[in-house]
Amino acid sequence: MNSASDRIIEPFRIKVVEPIRMTTFQEREEILKNAGYNLFQVHSDDVLIDFLTDSGTGAMSAEQWSAIMRGDESYAGSPSYFRFEKAVRDIFGFVHVIPTHQGRAAERILVATLVKPGDIIPNNTHFDTTRANIEAAGAKALDLPCAESKEFSTPHPFKGNMDLEALEKVLKENKDQIPLAMMTVTNNGGGGQPVSMANIRTASNLCRAAGIPFYIDACRFAENAFFIRHREEGYAETPLIDIAREIFSYSDGCTMSAKKDGMANIGGFLCSNDSNVAKQEEELLVLTEGFPTYGGLAGRDLEAIAVGLYEALDYRYQEYRASSTSYLGEQITEADVPIILPPGGHAIYIDAKNMLPHIPQSEYPGQALVIELYRTGGIRSVEIGSVMFGTADPETYSDSELVRLAIPRRVYTKSQVDYVVDCIQDVSKRREEIRGVRIVEQSERLRHFTARFEMV
Ligand code: F0G
Repeated sequence: MNSASDRIIEPFRIKVVEPIRMTTFQEREEILKNAGYNLFQVHSDDVLIDFLTDSGTGAMSAEQWSAIMRGDESYAGSPSYFRFEKAVRDIFGFVHVIPTHQGRAAERILVATLVKPGDIIPNNTHFDTTRANIEAAGAKALDLPCAESKEFSTPHPFKGNMDLEALEKVLKENKDQIPLAMMTVTNNGGGGQPVSMANIRTASNLCRAAGIPFYIDACRFAENAFFIRHREEGYAETPLIDIAREIFSYSDGCTMSAKKDGMANIGGFLCSNDSNVAKQEEELLVLTEGFPTYGGLAGRDLEAIAVGLYEALDYRYQEYRASSTSYLGEQITEADVPIILPPGGHAIYIDAKNMLPHIPQSEYPGQALVIELYRTGGIRSVEIGSVMFGTADPETYSDSELVRLAIPRRVYTKSQVDYVVDCIQDVSKRREEIRGVRIVEQSERLRHFTARFEMV
């Protein structure tokens, strides 16, 4: 202990503030009606606490804003690119670093380079954009989450792990159809849960023995490194940057959304050690993103990422982030709200099916809860269930009906989190009165962004 208190506090002070607008209950009811009860259709200035995503919504540091002023906007050979490349190489260790405008652009280029129709790409759990890119190429996105990930209420230190036996089996039986395997750290589709170093190492060994490139979806790599330090034997004293370096040493490349642990508002990159593959990727990059020394980004964005990647690896920052996220999880668990346990790195996932058992899946309990959280407190969250994964065929339901509260980085204070806790406690007390919804309008693909609902 370095002072009279061992309380974990925000390791920063606030230099710039942005007002948030209070709305009344009546105003929110009107806003919901106009938006067709779809929170993606609500203007963000009508949201008090925005937990829709942790992607690109973080607060940048004074160092990042200073670096932005240094941004060099030359078309070719910008020093901003070389600073970015140096930071990525230092932490991730790859030879080739290709900047993209965000994570999915890196995925698209990777898939276009390596994947052909009929292929199979295993992952612990594919994020939706990764899955969509693979499926658009006519290939199969195969999720191989570990068994523990299916038991929401039973804590396990590394619920993000891959089922290694299943990986071994698919590598043996379908080797010729597998152009690469992936591992997503932390596992967003699986509750923001971390992957252990042992799991990454073994998955890598299995792939390497089969001659298959092993890629990491690195979006939340620094949060994952923090969990390894805290939960895996042998890492208790290891600096997060060294843990990150070890993770990537087991891989042959990565895709990255710098909107998460790049601590930036936009950006991403694609890395590999294979010069041949990188050459093809750079050719595709020029078609849609830009010249290889800026990709889809301005020089100033490259500068912000170069600084942000190191800030994400700051131990005190990660300690604060993990403790504030788990604080929210613990508080609402006490109010009897079922969540995926333990709390994830970037988000809390409420098990809406279990919380609202009186609402059948055909009336979308997750969406009902999302609506009620906004109505009650102006809080925006996102349904991850049958609205997101189902189709116009009414019989397609997701295995689970979750509501994600994703926490933007360095944005909300503890009293704002306490406000969210108060609202969720209130909703929890009235849970039996919450009604389901029906869909009155929907699109064929990605319906959750635009669907319109009606209260049942
Ligand atoms: N991979 C993971 C694990 C992600 O969580 C995301 C984005 C992406 C890839 C794609 O990155 O958005 O920069 O194109 N996740 C956001 C979210 C959108 O809300 O979880 P992107």
